Amino acid sequence: ETKIRKIDKNQIDKNIIEEAGMLLREGKLVAFPTETVYGLGADALQEEAARKTYEAKGRPSDNPLIVHIADYEDLKKIAVNIPPETDMLAAHFWPGPLTMIFQKSEEVPYGTTGGLDTVAVRMPVDPIARALIRAAGGFVSAPSANTSGRPSPTTARHVEEDLSGKIDMILDGGPVDIGLESTILDMTVSPPMILRPGAVTAEMFKKVIGPVDIDQTLLSENSAQPPKAPGMKYRHYAPKAKLVIVEGDLREEILAIRQLAYEADRKEHPVGIIATNETLPFYNHGIVKNIGTRENEKTIARNLYGVLREFDEEDVDTIYSESFAVQGIGTAIMNRLEKAAGHVRIPASDIVKLQKY
Ligand code: TXA
Ligand code: MG
Repeated sequence: ETKIRKIDKNQIDKNIIEEAGMLLREGKLVAFPTETVYGLGADALQEEAARKTYEAKGRPSDNPLIVHIADYEDLKKIAVNIPPETDMLAAHFWPGPLTMIFQKSEEVPYGTTGGLDTVAVRMPVDPIARALIRAAGGFVSAPSANTSGRPSPTTARHVEEDLSGKIDMILDGGPVDIGLESTILDMTVSPPMILRPGAVTAEMFKKVIGPVDIDQTLLSENSAQPPKAPGMKYRHYAPKAKLVIVEGDLREEILAIRQLAYEADRKEHPVGIIATNETLPFYNHGIVKNIGTRENEKTIARNLYGVLREFDEEDVDTIYSESFAVQGIGTAIMNRLEKAAGHVRIPASDIVKLQKY
């Protein structure tokens, strides 16, 4: 039986936090909101709690967990050989959507790090998350609170869909703010290397500590090397339908998707379309979902996983998505979209060329 507790982040109910913190201290599992996605919390220093986490998610146990802290001083208890740039990065981006990787201390069990000698650490800004971490004793491991292979949860409802009956409690703090998982920065190499793009971007790091590297395996589908973050090698999420990213300039993308949707309708196989506020009026065939506004790509990040979940409820076997510029948060949006699409892309111009004028 999974207890569900509604909690208001502007007026946190201490009794609920105490109850949830107690469960974590007992080695139990509590899902909670963070600014990125909902996390599945466990005491990061109890090996057995990590085992339960993997079991509830159906996740391979070689895939390490992120340890969440609420106070910067606590970093020293779980990490060693912390490089000097860390202070500057923390000053700018913690608390917030940044995870940094360090060599682990002996306090951290290998169950939590998937057998690695390094540990991923994040200090979230969400006040519910911070209160819970403190109530639990300071160190909470939390992967995204989805079943392995589904989109990360951005509402408590998504967590319930995947994990109800398998975990002890869900704290429902409403929809999350960012909607994509944190940026992962490997601090054990110099310069540091981005292993997963997120809301904190390479441009932002550059302003604080100078240029950082980017794990090159993230950029191409058939790299010979596995990505450096073990979790990035799994095709995170395969939608029920085939997802295809249509690439070109926006005008061409609209024309191509219009045509593909029209043809599919004629064959009575309606397709799904991932559109934006600006492009919505151009589509009159297919099942069209609005992912947000191009004026503010944060809205697109926020809605992406929810829209993908919605399409799993629809009777479509192909979904066409517009593409987004790979800059700012767009880098993370395209990274997640491409993973969901298994890197299937088609040039819009190929489709439009076929059209007779
Ligand atoms: O935004 C987030 O980071 C969310 C919220 C809940 O904080 N958490 C999250 O956790 O996305 P998860 O487990 O779904 O993704 C963690 C990623 C995986 O790709 C994992 O392989 C990588 O972090 N990772 C964790 N520890 C690592 C380590 N020591 N070295 C390299 N990659 C690591
Ligand atoms: Mg995940």
